[in-house]
Amino acid sequence: MLRDVLGRPLRDLRVSVTDRCNLRCTYCMPASVFGPDYAFLPRQELLSFEELERLTRAFVALGVEKVRITGGEPTLRRDLPVLIGRLAAIDGVQDLAMTTNGLLLPRLARELKAAGLRRVTVSLDSLDPEVFGRMNGLGTHPQRVLDGIEAALQAGLGVKINTVVQRGVNDEGLRELWAALRDLAPVRFIEFMDVGNHNGWNLGGVVPSREVLARLNGGGEPFRPVGAAYRGEVAARHADAQGREVGLISSVTAPFCGDCTRARLSAVGVLYTCLFAGAGTDLRAPLRAGASDEQLRALVAQTWQARRDRYSEERGEASPQASKVEMSHIGG
Ligand code: GTP
Ligand code: 5AD
Ligand code: SF4
Ligand code: SF4
Repeated sequence: MLRDVLGRPLRDLRVSVTDRCNLRCTYCMPASVFGPDYAFLPRQELLSFEELERLTRAFVALGVEKVRITGGEPTLRRDLPVLIGRLAAIDGVQDLAMTTNGLLLPRLARELKAAGLRRVTVSLDSLDPEVFGRMNGLGTHPQRVLDGIEAALQAGLGVKINTVVQRGVNDEGLRELWAALRDLAPVRFIEFMDVGNHNGWNLGGVVPSREVLARLNGGGEPFRPVGAAYRGEVAARHADAQGREVGLISSVTAPFCGDCTRARLSAVGVLYTCLFAGAGTDLRAPLRAGASDEQLRALVAQTWQARRDRYSEERGEASPQASKVEMSHIGG
């Protein structure tokens, strides 16, 4: 089995299919940087469906079992259900999921499910229209995301909800959000991370997960930890006295690099072995220059075998990197 320098196998592939988004979340694509004149990638730069399928096959041959489609906002990619159908048909893809802001799910959920998508993770940071409108940068109402969640559930897709927590921004409404959503889908609270180069991150904006838990139970009986659903699960699950679950993604206060089995492919075909990487391995150039499947597999294997990333564990130790890949290029 393929392993990196720290002994971690390659199990998951996260594939970004576009760098565009129909929101401007302040912690990801702030409108001040990603404004009306921002130059998004031209279409010919993006990997085609053929190229995405070929590369995915190479990763699956090397051990990948889980594939997650990301963006930007993946539902903005034209004919996405066609791509889903092609990836779902690959022998060895055991799980096919997508991370989305949910806005286009009322239109697309049924078609995506029919094409072979199993699960979606929908991002929703607040149920307060004002707070959510400010965080998503465009004033978009949370009801539109709730409609997307509803459409996904109706279509029979598995649903999880991701909530990024920022101190002084949405941390007041966490209990309300969890109470409203916990019977619909598992909610996972994510510590605000220093991804990309533009989100003005500082430690003061992070609400540690243990504080999130304390807020959720509001002085009631403590939550108890629930075992991970699978090795390397990013979210640590906890349940309250009634057995209602909540997930905590603590990449700042409790990094999980030791179990990190994820590779990330950008929309232009650059392979990143860490969410916080400064540079990656270009797979598109050899692909377009006529490399064989075997050559592509060898390039991926070499890159993985040389991998020693553990950014979240080193945060604070090492000097910060000059420039990191943008979240909108690798989708979290
Ligand atoms: P499941 O398969 O449903 O368990 O999905 P997941 O939790 O692996 O995927 P998801 O995209 O929902 O991950 C949730 C969030 O956790 C991401 O959007 C990131 O913000 C964060 N995250 C995921 N993987 C990593 C990682 O490798 N490192 C760090 N630092 N954060 C990660
Ligand atoms: N910190 C934590 N989570 C983030 N996400 C995007 N940017 C950040 C950040 N700076 C989350 C989104 C979405 C997933 C793609 O990553 O909310 O759920
Ligand atoms: Fe778009 Fe998701 Fe980034 Fe928000 S977090 S700007 S929805 S890609
Ligand atoms: Fe993996 Fe990098 Fe996240 Fe650590 S910081 S868990 S190595 S992606």
